[in-house]
Amino acid sequence: MKTIFYSGMLALSVAGGCGNPQGGAGVALRDALKDKFYLGTALSVAQLTGGDTLSERVARENFSAVVPENCMKSMFLQPREGEFFFDEADKFVAWGEANGMWITGHCLVWHSQAPRWLCTDESGGNVSPETLTERLRSHITTVVSRYRGRIKGWDVVNEAILEDGSWRKSKLYEILGEEFIPLAFRFAHEADPDAELYYNDYSMAFEGKRNAVVQLVKTLKERGLRIDAVGMQGHIGMDYPPLEEFEKSMLAFAEAGVKVMVTELDLTVLPSPQPNVGAAVEASFAYRQALNPYAGGLPDSVAAAWTSRMADFFRLFLKHHDKLTRVTLWGVCDDDSWRNGWPVPGRTDYALLFDRNGNPKPVVPLLVGELCANRHGDARK
Ligand code: XIL
Repeated sequence: MKTIFYSGMLALSVAGGCGNPQGGAGVALRDALKDKFYLGTALSVAQLTGGDTLSERVARENFSAVVPENCMKSMFLQPREGEFFFDEADKFVAWGEANGMWITGHCLVWHSQAPRWLCTDESGGNVSPETLTERLRSHITTVVSRYRGRIKGWDVVNEAILEDGSWRKSKLYEILGEEFIPLAFRFAHEADPDAELYYNDYSMAFEGKRNAVVQLVKTLKERGLRIDAVGMQGHIGMDYPPLEEFEKSMLAFAEAGVKVMVTELDLTVLPSPQPNVGAAVEASFAYRQALNPYAGGLPDSVAAAWTSRMADFFRLFLKHHDKLTRVTLWGVCDDDSWRNGWPVPGRTDYALLFDRNGNPKPVVPLLVGELCANRHGDARK
């Protein structure tokens, strides 16, 4: 009798979030993943301000980490020099705290969605390196210290490297060269010494980008700067990137001495207007009917292929969960996803874990079932 009681307790204690031994029916994916990594989502302003209560509830009940989809980008936080606008960012952080989420800030320095004034003088030319350094210092210090101790990690620099491994020739790079990156990490660390600091980028499965990011991590570390993790955005498609290449990058980043995070996961089912479109937000292609085949619904065969590919990516994440701290979806429900409007406006995509009615898609119980079956299997060993 004693033995049976004991082994039952053991099964429960190692079962993570799998409350029952029957394959995890009714268990949220975030709970089944509890001892593996955070399951995150990106929140929009509508979800934070009462304009989208369905997705707000789905986010609250199903995720363990949050990141702001837009409201912490520099063009929103500091639209004019010295004039900060924190209303939405404050709501975001308060929501994360009220709901017990791991809170990440996105993003301190990015060439895109930055205010024009940042790199420009009154006559429209580039500012001096000294001026830009001072503006970066002021922006980063103001933002990071406001949320010190509350935002646990920051995407410090976003998208500074191209697929071939060369530096992106942004205004930031034109003015400061690659030095803008260590500067940003230094300013962020000075403003909150306890916050985790990340480099974040898309198309990370490309060999050139992989090697350049590894080099960047090494350079920052050699210079004594803090970098905790590399964020692989994960805007993926049905035929890109190859799973093996994604895995190689995860391993390369971990080998360089940082944790890995998947920060903006979405899996489009729609045809690509060009191969390997990456995630450059400025990319835009004209709408054509042929590029929007599933406006009336997703055929079962396509939905099944999507489920299978998303499950394969999660199985890869689980295989390397010791290196991974977080997997964040770029949105809550399918109709929230930026993929409906990018890189072709006006399409209907099915890129996330929850459908347009807020219901979990089949991949969710599939993964919960696998996780819970493994846990109870382990417990029996
Ligand atoms: C996207 C948002 O989802 C859109 O709402 C916005 O219009 C453009 O930016 N890489 C990033 C994210 O780091 O911040 C981008 O988010 C998607 C690509």
